[in-house]
Amino acid sequence: MENLMEKIVSLSKRRGFLYQSSEIYGGFAGFWDYGPLGAQLSYNIKDLWWKTFVSGRDDIYGISSTNIMPKSVWEASGHLEGFTDPMVLCKKCKKRFRADHLNDASKCPECSGELGEVKTFNLMFPVEVGSTGEKSTTAYLRGENAQGMFVNFKNVIDSFHPKLPFGLAQVGRSFRNEIAPRDFLFRAREFDLAEFEYFVREDEWEKWFSYWEGEMENWIDLVGIDKNKVHKVEIGEDDRAHYSKRTIDFEFDYPFGQKELYGLVYRTDHDLKLHMEHSGVSLEYTDEATGERFIPHVVEPTFGIGRTILAVLLSAYTEDEMGGEKRAYLKLKPTIAPIKAAVFPLVKNKENLVKKAQEVYANLKKEIPSVMWDDNGNIGKRYRRQDEIGTPFCITVDHDTLEDDSVTVRDRDTGEQERISTKELVSYIEKAL
Ligand code: GAP
Repeated sequence: MENLMEKIVSLSKRRGFLYQSSEIYGGFAGFWDYGPLGAQLSYNIKDLWWKTFVSGRDDIYGISSTNIMPKSVWEASGHLEGFTDPMVLCKKCKKRFRADHLNDASKCPECSGELGEVKTFNLMFPVEVGSTGEKSTTAYLRGENAQGMFVNFKNVIDSFHPKLPFGLAQVGRSFRNEIAPRDFLFRAREFDLAEFEYFVREDEWEKWFSYWEGEMENWIDLVGIDKNKVHKVEIGEDDRAHYSKRTIDFEFDYPFGQKELYGLVYRTDHDLKLHMEHSGVSLEYTDEATGERFIPHVVEPTFGIGRTILAVLLSAYTEDEMGGEKRAYLKLKPTIAPIKAAVFPLVKNKENLVKKAQEVYANLKKEIPSVMWDDNGNIGKRYRRQDEIGTPFCITVDHDTLEDDSVTVRDRDTGEQERISTKELVSYIEKAL
C-alpha cells in the first residue's frame, strides 16, 4: 500500500496511540509517548505475552528487576566493551550515522559532505547515582532486560528449586543510546522489551532452540502480525551479538525494508559464567536427583514491544469500501484491540432511549473493561471512528430496544449487523476475546 508508514504515523497521532516525546518542546529524537489508545494496546499485548509465556506455563517464572543496574553487571556481561555500533560523523553538517547502515561510506547521505573516520560507539546510557554529600557512582540504564534475569538466577533457584529446563522472564523498559534513531517505533532510544532466558542442559540446546522457534511463530500469529511478511534469517558469525553462538532473526517487511522484528539466540553459558567469575558467587545448578553441578546454557527468545506494535499496526491497517464509501480500519485481533466495543444511542435527543443506552453501556462496562460510549455525530461517523481505532463491535440501542431489550451489534470487518438480546451481550463479546 502506498504511503503506509505515513498513514500509520498520522493515524497514531490523530487518534491518540502515539505522540513524540515532549512535543511541546520540539520533540525528543528516539523517544515516544503512548497516548490513551496506544497505552492500552501496549498493555494488552504485554498482557497476552505474559499469559502466553509466563502465567499460562509451569516452567517460566516472571520477574521484574530494576531499570538501573550497577556498572559491575555491565562489565561482567561484556556490554561496556561489546555493546557498540560503528559511528561516523559528517565533517560538514555534523550529523552522526551508523557506518554499517550507509550504502556509500565515503559521503554524507544528507548533505554529501565528507565523512570522518569510523569510531566505535557504546550504546549504554550512564547515570550518576547518589545524593549530594554522598560519593556518586556511575550506573547504567539497562541495555537489555536479560541481565536482570541472570543476576536473579540464584535467588529464584533458592526460592523455588525449579527443575531444568526452566525460564526467567520479564517485560519492561530497555534503553539504548542509538546513533541514529529512526522509523517511528522501530529504532527508539527507550522501548519495552519482553524476553526470557530459558535454562537448559548444554546437550539439549538445539532441541529447545527449535521448540522456541516454533512457539515464536505461533506468537506472531496470535498477536496479529501478518506471517506472510515475516522471514526467518540465520545470522552469520560476524553479525551476531557478542554473547551469541547462534541467532535467528525474525524479520518483518516494514515499508522501509525487511528488518529485524524479534530474535532467537543461543547464549551458551556466557552470562552465568561471567557473572560467577566477576561476583564470586556460585551460579551453578545442582541436579537434586544426581547431585551433579554445572552451569546451564541459555536459549533466549526476545520480543521488542515497540516493534510488535508497529508490525501489528502495519498488518492491521486496511482500506476498503463499505456502503459506497471509502474507509480505513484497523483489523486488530479483539484480544489486543484497545477498545472492545462501543455503545451508541441511535439518536441523542430521545431521553428514554439515551437512558436505556446508558444502562446497556454501564452493564457491559462492569463485565468488560475498555468499552466506550459514543454519541457524537451520526451513526455512520461513529462507525468510521471506531473502525479506525480497531474496535471490533459497535452496539446500537434503538427504539426496538425499549420494546424487546435487544440491540444491534455490528461487526467491524464485515459491517454485518446482528440483533442480540442485551442479556447475551457480555457472552457474545467475551467469546471473541
Ligand atoms: N536480550 C537480547 C537482546 O536485547 P537485541 O536483538 O539487541 O537482543 C532485542 O534486542 C529486541 O529488541 C529486538 O529483536 C527488537 O525487537 C528490539 N529492539 C532492539 N533495539 C531496538 C530499538 N532501538 N528500538 C526498538 N526496539 C528495539
